[in-house]
Amino acid sequence: MTPIINDFTRLLGIQVPVVCAPMANVGGAALAAQATLGGGFGFIGAGYYPANKVRDELETARSILSTAGRMRGGGKLPVGIAFFGWKFDQNPAAASEMLDIALEAQVQAIWLSFGTNLRPWVDYVRSKDRVDTHKEKTLLFTLVNSVDEAVAAKGWPLDVIVAQGIEGGGHGGNYAPPTFSLVSSILPLLSPGDPLLLAAGGLANGAQAAALLALGVAGAVFGTRFLLTPESTYTAAQKAALLAAGASATVRTEAFDHARGTLGWPDGVDGRGLRNALVADYEAGLDAAALRARFAAHASSGDPDYAVVWAGTGVGEMHEIKGAQDIVRQLHQEMLQRLRAVRQLLDDSGDGITKSSM
Ligand SMILES: Cc1cc2nc3c(=O)[nH]c(=O)nc-3n(C[C@H](O)[C@H](O)[C@H](O)COP(=O)(O)O)c2cc1C
Repeated sequence: MTPIINDFTRLLGIQVPVVCAPMANVGGAALAAQATLGGGFGFIGAGYYPANKVRDELETARSILSTAGRMRGGGKLPVGIAFFGWKFDQNPAAASEMLDIALEAQVQAIWLSFGTNLRPWVDYVRSKDRVDTHKEKTLLFTLVNSVDEAVAAKGWPLDVIVAQGIEGGGHGGNYAPPTFSLVSSILPLLSPGDPLLLAAGGLANGAQAAALLALGVAGAVFGTRFLLTPESTYTAAQKAALLAAGASATVRTEAFDHARGTLGWPDGVDGRGLRNALVADYEAGLDAAALRARFAAHASSGDPDYAVVWAGTGVGEMHEIKGAQDIVRQLHQEMLQRLRAVRQLLDDSGDGITKSSM
């Protein structure tokens, strides 16, 4: 398939500007490596992992990619790994240990998000890169939910800013504008030499990614789409709930974090998932302890009405489970189709324009 070449694909050495988002506890080495093998780039969601799990997942990714012949001799491990700033702030010693493990494993990229104090960790990675000058530098990604956050991030030594709109599945700022508006507002503020901009939030297909490329972003990030893979660790019941969900099935809420007890996110960060009985209980005013008890009581049954099923607004257009490699290939194909169709609007020696304007 014709590669889609731009600054982002050149930076990463990939064929298609599609990223499989980090998905904490749900997308590990298998998902990230398969997304990379499909021609895109995959992230391991390590936000809740302890250090030994970070090491194990990176080893697994290395072994999958080596077996597939995708490791460049002595070079970087072509997947990324992502951490949460707010968890780092709770335990800085564990945070630096995990970053050291990732750097020793030579991950190609590190993604830092959801923290009010991310800059020192960006500088930490950069300082380690400066010591190991014989190695390629580690690419640094961060996620923003507003124009102000993007303006702050563009002053940091980063490579990529991911603008995540309100439609996004999983965690995000409840104050984010829609993805299209957010990236449209950020793009004019970026100059050559600034970090590249990717778009995330609510994407289901390659036509949407092509539209975003036309807008001027360097690539598209898909999260929910990659939950519907054999490689994601969602249960069969969670995947079935996603397949059955319509376009209006999701809601932004703090209910899920209260139910699971995963609290400590920066102000204004909640999460988008499938509206279910847990959300109804939370909205009806059930107190946090009772909500947690109800969540725990249903944990072994796997009932999606009492589980957390993160999902973006694009979920209504997702109708099948397929391998992450195949998803990237399909997105690639759909992007090429749309980009070619758009090019044809200009290819008819201007006939259409001349006739309609006469
Ligand atoms: C299950 C799940 C877990 C996620 N975990 C993370 C994470 O660990 N770090 C992060 O920055 N974003 C995380 N996100 C958000 C993604 O980075 C991305 O912005 C989002 O999935 C895009 O929206 P979409 O799901 O509609 O494609 C997660 C999303 C989902 C669905």
